Amino acid sequence: ETKPRIPVIWLHGLECTCCTESFIRSAHPLVKDVVLSMISLDYDDTIMAAAGHQAEEILDEIRETHKGNYILAVEGNPPLRDGGVYCLPGGRPFVDRLKEMASDAQAVIAWGSCASWGCVQAAKPNPTQATPVHEVVTDKPVIKVPGCPPIAEVMTAVVTYILTFERLPELDRHGRPKMFYSQRIHDKCYRRPHFDAGQFVEEWDDEGARKGYCLYKVGCKGPTTYNACSTVRWNEGVSFPIQSGHGCIGCSEKDFWDMGPFYSR
Ligand code: SF4
Ligand code: SF4
Ligand code: F3S
Repeated sequence: ETKPRIPVIWLHGLECTCCTESFIRSAHPLVKDVVLSMISLDYDDTIMAAAGHQAEEILDEIRETHKGNYILAVEGNPPLRDGGVYCLPGGRPFVDRLKEMASDAQAVIAWGSCASWGCVQAAKPNPTQATPVHEVVTDKPVIKVPGCPPIAEVMTAVVTYILTFERLPELDRHGRPKMFYSQRIHDKCYRRPHFDAGQFVEEWDDEGARKGYCLYKVGCKGPTTYNACSTVRWNEGVSFPIQSGHGCIGCSEKDFWDMGPFYSR
């Protein structure tokens, strides 16, 4: 209780803000406990009260007073084409701000598929040259927490782990925490017995769909998607896309927008 809360700077590049929307719905731990008791969220242009120059000054202040001791959380990515003019928070190219804040951070968290892989902005032909964070920040550990968005409890668990153990979680070769990204959706999907039995939905709303058969033939990417949806699930563990009758579109995988059609029927 007496431990100082670690400062977190949360930057937004090219993104849709739904990673934040997911984060604020964390139930275990409750996001209010994360924000009010565990970390000191000193800058987050989506939910902070300060604005304009007052807000921008916080970035310089944290860099100076907590050099090497703050976490930089990044939602979205920097577009590099034309000098970065397609994302100008505070009137400057986002890529400059990102590099500057990363240079004095302890570690960088890349929230979501935008920051981790590029996501929809980077879909072919990637007109703004949207670029994943790890390709711009190369001198700091970058923890990728992909998903579009990532599961709320996965996001807060990554923060909790760092604070509790005072080290980064073990990462796989792509930089994702192994504890949440070492299994495919397919490995723990409750429809897996139907896959194994050759029972598939052949057309949307057919008899197989009503019986809850496997969605592979209508486009489910669960067999090639690494994420925790079939174990942790969403909305306090209530459900996940496949449980709602929709195949996994592979939203935590690199280049999922270019992987082919989401539906195969
Ligand atoms: Fe939005 Fe998806 Fe990007 Fe998160 S990863 S900011 S949910 S587009
Ligand atoms: Fe695998 Fe998708 Fe079928 Fe589930 S619905 S068993 S993830 S192919
Ligand atoms: Fe995304 Fe597939 Fe989970 S679409 S939310 S990784 S089930």
